[in-house]
Amino acid sequence: MAAERVIEMAADISKYRDDFPVLQTQMHGKPLAFLDSGASAQKPQTVIDAMNNVYKTGYSNIHRGLYEVSQNLTADYEAVRSKVAGFIGAPSEKNIVFTGNATEGINLVVQSWGKTFLNRGDEIILTEMEHHANIVPWQMLRDDIGVVIKTIPFDKRGILDLEAFERLLTHKTRLVSFVHISNALGTVNPVKKIIEIAKDFYPDMRVLVDGSQGVAHSAINMQELDADFYVFTGHKLYGPSGIGVLYGKEELLNDMPPYKGGGDMIERVTFNETTYKAAPYKFEAGTPPIVEVIGLGAAIDYVSGIGMESIAEHEAELLAYGTEKLQEIDGLTIHGTAPDKAGILSFTIDGTHPSDIGMILDQCGVAVRAGHHCCMPLMEKLGLDATVRASLGLYSNKNDIDQLVEGLHKVKEMFQ
Ligand SMILES: Cc1ncc(COP(=O)(O)O)c(C=O)c1O
Repeated sequence: MAAERVIEMAADISKYRDDFPVLQTQMHGKPLAFLDSGASAQKPQTVIDAMNNVYKTGYSNIHRGLYEVSQNLTADYEAVRSKVAGFIGAPSEKNIVFTGNATEGINLVVQSWGKTFLNRGDEIILTEMEHHANIVPWQMLRDDIGVVIKTIPFDKRGILDLEAFERLLTHKTRLVSFVHISNALGTVNPVKKIIEIAKDFYPDMRVLVDGSQGVAHSAINMQELDADFYVFTGHKLYGPSGIGVLYGKEELLNDMPPYKGGGDMIERVTFNETTYKAAPYKFEAGTPPIVEVIGLGAAIDYVSGIGMESIAEHEAELLAYGTEKLQEIDGLTIHGTAPDKAGILSFTIDGTHPSDIGMILDQCGVAVRAGHHCCMPLMEKLGLDATVRASLGLYSNKNDIDQLVEGLHKVKEMFQ
């Protein structure tokens, strides 16, 4: 019964592949097996059309035009804020700040909340599996005001050590910031559990979740999770690049000062003093990524139409297939074997550098990422400088995996 359901879902999902024009193209004369959605996902036609339509039929600046085109686009833009809130289960659109990407969302929290509410000697806890986007901004704060950074270790399978986490908590800990789904290992971290541990220890502990991968591979609900901040980026969610989201609890956003100044975020400016709009607008200085916001709205409509649970189920089935196939290859090691894992297959092959593997796969029409995946501390912990990463999206299928495996056999013929 369960198996029948999975097959049915997988079949259901496969029809959506045709919605992505780029997947009908070729690379080096081979069908494109796009296995780099973890870096950036491809875009469905509806997203492309929604953005084109704005430029063709109703483009202007927003929040400032008295004329119809501007007012209509302003309404469409603000409707996306509500749509994002609904999509991630936020209490209201006031929780949603539009940013350029996830990286900017984290920098916003660091520069605004961190600089205002943290003091020298305060401790923040990250994990050893963070993307550089959730390390470097905190290091800048450390160098600036003297906060102390601690890290939660992970084990051989890529699972965070929550007992070690509890031991790291002290009366000086003010914030825990961690990745929902590791982009390098695929581990799905127990977000709710980590937040509970943090808040049980100290109810005013703040928690930031880097949901860059999480939002694209699972259904999320801010009110259930009780995160203080959650960031993600539109381009991994089948939307455009140039748009990201910072979710923040309303009272926190209200207490935080703006971190960039300029037009659109002010109430009144004189040379003596400036007053700011309420959150979220006070964080959105200057002309925003208008068309990108519309594209993000279309992407949310698109994935909501399929269902995040169905997408997760499809990717889980494919992950199991891919894992089995890769394990059959002699000398191949998969890095990241946590039982709760999203569609990411990070691996190395004895005696062959990941960059060489990536280049040969490219010739076979297979797009993967080879490198440190912006997780150098994680790689150091694994004793590696790079892995090959095949990452899945809703449009991925067994043919993509088969093409990858065929390419890897070619790699082995050439190098071994
Ligand atoms: C886990 C994680 N965090 C943060 C980022 C940064 O995303 P962006 O470059 O869109 O800000 C990425 C992108 O690869 C990611 O995978």
